[in-house]
Amino acid sequence: MAIKKKEEKEKTEKKKSPKSEEKLEYVNKQGKRLDGRTVEETRPIKITVGVVPSADGSCYLEWGQNKVIAAVYGPRECLPKHTASPYKAVVRYTYRMATFSVPDRKNPRPGRRDVEISKVSAEAFEKAIFTEKFPNTAIDIFVEVLDSNAGTRIAALTTASVALADAGIPMRDLVAGVAVGRADGHIIVDLNKYEEDAPDAVDMPIAILPNSEEIVLLQMDGLFSKKEWQQARQLAFAAIKNVHALQKQALLKKYENSESAEKPEKTEKTNGSDVQ
Ligand code: CDP
Repeated sequence: MAIKKKEEKEKTEKKKSPKSEEKLEYVNKQGKRLDGRTVEETRPIKITVGVVPSADGSCYLEWGQNKVIAAVYGPRECLPKHTASPYKAVVRYTYRMATFSVPDRKNPRPGRRDVEISKVSAEAFEKAIFTEKFPNTAIDIFVEVLDSNAGTRIAALTTASVALADAGIPMRDLVAGVAVGRADGHIIVDLNKYEEDAPDAVDMPIAILPNSEEIVLLQMDGLFSKKEWQQARQLAFAAIKNVHALQKQALLKKYENSESAEKPEKTEKTNGSDVQ
């Protein structure tokens, strides 16, 4: 009896298989991606400022499934002293992924990827921060990715940028970014892991100083044609404008809340603020 049932199950699975093997469309005829987004849409972004009381500035961000926390300390004494510069503050950026942030356990030891992301991100912030105002000091930025689904280096930069502003560190502008790329011939913004793994995938994280549109980080995994690059750049810059607006909104919300908390008639304690 059990064998008959098993045979019947196998038969029905065989019947189903051509359907399940149907090619999934990365962007369907209605212009929607597999997760329902349009090509120019980012995943939902939620930013909370001031979440680590011991830090000079901090921020927690959710960008789709990505969850990132950033804490900033400084400008403070640069140790060991031989690493200090008499001309400017040294920007130190530490990007880490929690062992539980990816489906396969991530080795807690910093790998080449963590080192690379930390380096390029520090260089991006060196262009934003008025480092020359703080010689012989260090500005330490720590970013921890708690959950991930592609686009974490950009999510981390976005979080760190808000944490720096929360720490009161003078900057030319906030650093804001997005990843843009290609999946199945379509140029799309903010690729998720599935899209990043498309056979023809291109992934291009880009971060800018939104007011001057100066590019402070640009990496590319794969190759674009000239036409694709122009389209990608346009989509990325438009998406970054929204990210920048959310960053500013989150910061404003925190300081509006703390101002009203200072007034005697409103005594309720505010532990940070969030914006989405
Ligand atoms: O996160 P981002 O897109 O900036 O960097 P990536 O090197 O292109 O990694 C893409 C995604 O791969 C990450 O966001 C993680 O979800 C995943 N990943 C992983 O599963 N295991 C790792 N050791 C590193 C990344």
